[in-house]
Amino acid sequence: MSKNILVIGSGGREHALAWKLAQSKKVATVFVAPGNVGTSLEAKIKNISITDIQELITFAKQNNISFTLVGPEAPLAAGIVDEFRANNLKIWGPTKYCSKLESSKAYAKDFMIKNNIPTAKYAVFTNVDLAKEYLSTQTLPIVIKADGLAAGKGVLVANKRIEALDFIDDIFSNNKFGSAGNKVVVEECLFGTEASFIVMIDGKNILPMASSQDHKRLLDNDRGPNTGGMGAFSPSPIVDQKLHDRVIKEIIQPVIDGMNKEGHEYTGFLYAGLMVDKDGNPKTLEFNCRFGDPETQPIMLRLESDLIDLIEAGINQKLDTISAVWSDKFAIGVVLASSGYPDSPQKDDIIVGLENITDDIKVFHSGTSIKDNKLYTSGGRVLCVVAQDSTIELTQQKVYNAIKEINYKGMQYRHDIASSAINLK
Ligand code: AMP
Ligand code: GLY
Repeated sequence: MSKNILVIGSGGREHALAWKLAQSKKVATVFVAPGNVGTSLEAKIKNISITDIQELITFAKQNNISFTLVGPEAPLAAGIVDEFRANNLKIWGPTKYCSKLESSKAYAKDFMIKNNIPTAKYAVFTNVDLAKEYLSTQTLPIVIKADGLAAGKGVLVANKRIEALDFIDDIFSNNKFGSAGNKVVVEECLFGTEASFIVMIDGKNILPMASSQDHKRLLDNDRGPNTGGMGAFSPSPIVDQKLHDRVIKEIIQPVIDGMNKEGHEYTGFLYAGLMVDKDGNPKTLEFNCRFGDPETQPIMLRLESDLIDLIEAGINQKLDTISAVWSDKFAIGVVLASSGYPDSPQKDDIIVGLENITDDIKVFHSGTSIKDNKLYTSGGRVLCVVAQDSTIELTQQKVYNAIKEINYKGMQYRHDIASSAINLK
């Protein structure tokens, strides 16, 4: 029977997830709420302009939706999974309670300590003076984090004390992050290589996704401010079998067990952001309760299994009966951002050249709009260009050759996505 699926979200991640779901022979239509220009151009995908949870529930009932897949963190933190389940609708994602692992960094840090999950030393403050006093006792660099959701921008790795003090003022006094900044986490700075370790969890079983690495800083050689992510590649050469097994045992399984102890079942994607030190020891920088953006884009290109089967196995608590098959090829996604990103992204610049992109390259949209058949920038991260090939070097050449075809005013992108993987060789 042909199925209708609902995907929630509007980013490049949701474009990639919907694109992958739509490839399944089992699918009639993938509805994306609200979706983006990229999803509107794909076969078997339809955008719907609904964001209200109750209206989404009505839509799911009226359109015979087999299951709903939630992309971003905000609807998860708002309890979309709890509300769909209360209406007997199938949905893939963590409950509001479990989403606290992402929506409150203070909760996540306390959870990690309680469950012996390796992470950086930290302290949490609700008072600006106490936070500053503590800071004066710490060595530099030091990491300052706003407690709540801040689209990847609520973290500062400070090399100077004055930067750290200013960021604490931004969080508390200047209210830069709204209610996300009611608390601040001051954290030891970790050194090493970052990797994104993403799994599916069905309450008891774990199905790992392919490993990947993101590039959080805006500029080449990891300089400039933190962003939502400027590019990603998969697989990550640092995640070998030994590290994989350790992360499952020391980080992922304790999340399932720890949530069970609190009387909650973790279901959905879980993303552990890792810092792996030079001796190969992993520590957890953060948890996200969802797939990564832009990690999803290269990872979905490598997924050979039917994503419908994986999500349904997850919803039916049967992840132990299924495996995910990944292409042996390497995949790299490079994010093209608008001028001014991340602080003040510019909009409405005309994008040219997408018609010159060949079929072996996939371009996922995030911040684009369409007017009179012309494509414009409409947000911080605009497009993610993804290529796949047999070696890292060939993939990198392929993706950057494709990017030469695309242009808009102030286009920003990193020129070194996946270079770290090449340098490791
Ligand atoms: P988070 O949102 O907590 O993952 O932080 C965003 C980014 O800030 C991470 O991907 C790291 O690049 C950096 N970061 C966060 N915490 C630390 C830490 N304790 N030490 C070094 N870098 C960090
Ligand atoms: N790429 C980082 C994130 O999705 O949070």
